[in-house]
Amino acid sequence: MSSVVLDNVTKIYPGGHLAVDRLSLKAGDGEFLVLLGPSGCGKSTLLRMIAGLEEITEGQLWLDGQLANHLPPRERDVAMVFQSGALYPHRTVRGNISFPLEIAKSDPEMTFERVTELSKALHIDETLDRRPGTLSGGQRQRVAMGRAIVRQPKLFLMDEPLSNLDAGMRTELRMEISALVRSLGVTTVYVTHDQVEALTLADRIAILNRGVLQDVGTPAQIYNDPATAFVASFLNSQQLNLLAATVRTPQNEFVLLDFGTHRLIMPWSDPRAYAVAQHTGGQILVGLRPDGLSPVPESYDGPSFFGRVRALEYHGHEWLAYVECGVPAAAVPEPPDPRGRAGERGGGPGGFGGVVRRMFGGGRQEEPQEQERVGQNPTGGFHRRSDLVVRLGGRPAWRAGDAAKVAVDVSRLMIFTPDGARVDPPRR
Ligand SMILES: Nc1ncnc2c1ncn2[C@@H]1O[C@H](COP(=O)(O)OP(=O)(O)OP(=O)(O)O)[C@@H](O)[C@H]1O
Ligand SMILES: [Mg+2]
Repeated sequence: MSSVVLDNVTKIYPGGHLAVDRLSLKAGDGEFLVLLGPSGCGKSTLLRMIAGLEEITEGQLWLDGQLANHLPPRERDVAMVFQSGALYPHRTVRGNISFPLEIAKSDPEMTFERVTELSKALHIDETLDRRPGTLSGGQRQRVAMGRAIVRQPKLFLMDEPLSNLDAGMRTELRMEISALVRSLGVTTVYVTHDQVEALTLADRIAILNRGVLQDVGTPAQIYNDPATAFVASFLNSQQLNLLAATVRTPQNEFVLLDFGTHRLIMPWSDPRAYAVAQHTGGQILVGLRPDGLSPVPESYDGPSFFGRVRALEYHGHEWLAYVECGVPAAAVPEPPDPRGRAGERGGGPGGFGGVVRRMFGGGRQEEPQEQERVGQNPTGGFHRRSDLVVRLGGRPAWRAGDAAKVAVDVSRLMIFTPDGARVDPPRR
């Protein structure tokens, strides 16, 4: 067992490319820490620095209380599993799994038993005499996992070990990894860009974007109380509604979130009201998950938006409605490009190139005359039309073209400054 501490770690690749920017993070003894973030955000770089496969440019890495920046990989006692576990093609499954024990000159009888036992836990005991070339992708990943686990290292480092598998296999193996790793109690750092994997596996999740740590906390903390608009948007099974509003405090009676065509009242009793009121006269961003909105009859007089259903989308277990309300949608702010990196990505400083919003999927009912009006806004980011995405459950309450009233759960509004930081920062 072991702990990992990253203290202000920076990685600049030769040529000046900044991949990880002053990142501090800890994985406690026996903890399952998931690194989550979009492609290119520096997850693998971070993992490879912990493994000793990549040099740390600045900052310190501590393994089990020992400064490890210059410790050779073999002295770190870590086992790594990659996206496509490279196996020895001429060794059998048993030969592959037992390899680390053979290198360590373990007792052959003990090795045989341990491999047999482990192969049963991984459901590959019937393939022990076969070669990797004859196995399915899922079986090969299990062998790679077995080889990493067999010698019980101090630390597991896993880099998207399930991403090459189909959905069913991914779910199955996900549960097995979780059970196996937890039963061994080995500290694990697990990289993924899949939010479901992160939420289901992690003790804590660390979210990265552009080499910068955005948030770290338990899955529930990060999901319900995200530190930035980027985190709220990334950890969202449907599209996050992110709206621009002006803050007003008329006669100091309450806080008013003014969306132009619509307004929402936040009473002073709301714990966030004073923090929001600091922005009186200024712009904020309001985040609303589609399940914080619900269809209500026209007579409803609580906090609500009113509009027209532009489209319905069938997702199997639920319907989503896209309701045109005339409220201004905002793009998700990203941290500014760190030094050495500017200009490399679309959008530039304040740009939104990293966030791709899926606008249209299959199985969608849409009004025939309406044309899509997604385009580039004057500030250079992609601005989508102002549809509110509303979760409807198994039976749609509306049809495309209907007038629609949408109740807003004000207690579930997430409020951000224009650069995406929380107005009322979460306490971790
Ligand atoms: N050897 C290298 N030399 C220069 N730049 C590199 C090198 N390896 C990675 N990078 C860059 O560093 C950044 C982070 O890369 P990294 O592989 O850590 O991302 P990632 O989060 O693992 O992405 P993915 O999800 O696609 O695997 C990327 O912009 C990448 O292009
Ligand atoms: Mg990677």
